Amino acid sequence: MNVDVAVVPAAGRGTRMSPATRVVPKALLPLVDRPALQWVLEEAVAAGARQLIVVVSPGVDDLIFSHFEGMGGLDRIAGLKDVEITWVVQPEPLGLGDAVLRARDAVGGRPFHCLLGDNIMPPGAGCLAAMAAASDGRSVMALRRMTPAETSSYGIASLGDWLADDVVEIEGAVEKPGPDAAPSDLGFLGRYTFTPDVFEHLAGLDPGFGGEIQLTDAIRALAVAGACLGKVVGSAPLDVGNPPSYIEATTILGLAHPPTAERYRAFVASLLDRP
Ligand code: UTP
Repeated sequence: MNVDVAVVPAAGRGTRMSPATRVVPKALLPLVDRPALQWVLEEAVAAGARQLIVVVSPGVDDLIFSHFEGMGGLDRIAGLKDVEITWVVQPEPLGLGDAVLRARDAVGGRPFHCLLGDNIMPPGAGCLAAMAAASDGRSVMALRRMTPAETSSYGIASLGDWLADDVVEIEGAVEKPGPDAAPSDLGFLGRYTFTPDVFEHLAGLDPGFGGEIQLTDAIRALAVAGACLGKVVGSAPLDVGNPPSYIEATTILGLAHPPTAERYRAFVASLLDRP
């Protein structure tokens, strides 16, 4: 499947990163030398996206827009110069499913990648192109094996037939089940390649888990319709939405990013040497 458009929901409240997010949106929190959202958009462009549709919340849309589009003496971000960025406002944070649905008109009937704006793939570990290649015309969800302790933090897939070593038909999905209720150990990790029929399912959803419009509920509807595959991927994105994993993400990116890697590796090693 050829996919050249990406939707990036970045309109959440960011409450777990408060007070850092009282004024600065989570999407603009820096990791190493660039904001979280820039890492995510660069991943989408590296996977072939030529249009980026970013869902932002009212009040911070100008701030985010200025970083990427340029303002005053600022130029447009290098590396994103040749892509079209479309800004969509989600009026209220009603849930991830609602954020994706807001992009419907801008997507306009094409297949699209969806990347969570607060999940950053380590450099070189992108999986979107492989997901599009794995599609036989159906939507493809990135999956990773979860420990029992993790299932209650992710959407978890129930599985049908395996079509290849790492490609499986998905028959259902549950949002954040405990380990005893999890239908498998494979969970969704924030990277999706959707066919546009997902919007019909999203449009019919009532609030689900936590009172929010859940993307997992639309994935379940796709799965029940026999229209959903999973691809098990090797690397998981780094979650920058809560303080411990934000610190871990900064460390991993700092160790991997050429301008900082050498000096930072020596610094981390010197810490480990200390008694
Ligand atoms: P999260 O649930 O992790 O983000 O959503 P959050 O709502 O900002 O988190 P907390 O609980 O308040 O700390 C995953 C992704 O979906 C986006 C978020 O911006 C994040 O990129 N999202 C979530 C939206 O765009 N809109 C929403 O209504 C909810």
